Amino acid sequence: MITVIQSDITTLQVDAIVNAANSSLLGGGGVDGAIHRAAGPKLLEYCRRLGGCPTGQVRLSPGFSLAAQWVIHTVGPIWQGGGQGEPQLLKTCYEQSLKLSLDRELRSIAFPGISTGVFGYPKDQAAAIAINMVKRYQEKIEEIVLCCYSTEDKVRYQSLL
Ligand code: AR6
Repeated sequence: MITVIQSDITTLQVDAIVNAANSSLLGGGGVDGAIHRAAGPKLLEYCRRLGGCPTGQVRLSPGFSLAAQWVIHTVGPIWQGGGQGEPQLLKTCYEQSLKLSLDRELRSIAFPGISTGVFGYPKDQAAAIAINMVKRYQEKIEEIVLCCYSTEDKVRYQSLL
């Protein structure tokens, strides 16, 4: 099942939330900052030991003080006009997150709009990739949540679905 909701992703009671991180995995602004604040300092301590993450890949951590048991940290591409492999990298972020959930037998996972904030990925194009990827896993994972911060983002996803 795919659901679209408008919420702060840090409040969701799901098995895993996805973090739109940067390759240091040492925190930042946006959803990354919110997740670190809500999870507490143990998350940063844990992430230090992960030694970073390349763009398009994923790393798993516990959720610590979050309601979610796990955080899947992924690093989206920085938008540079689209000719630097950004679509493939963004697709891989979703795919690797979904694969990891499947491997771990997670029943519910929530995604923010990876790369669509600070990293500047055009929202329509990013949403099309997100929807395309989650649809491929909708039969395999019980609940896939597309978590939007704004009403505009929610409407965009709903119309694409
Ligand atoms: N819950 C759900 N969605 C959120 C929340 C939240 N609490 N906060 C922001 N969003 P961004 P990026 C949405 O900038 O573009 C960080 O500094 C937001 O509206 O968080 O992948 C990292 O450390 C947007 O649609 O991530 C990296 O350096 C989406 O989350 C860099 O930003 C992603 O926006 C990553 O940039």
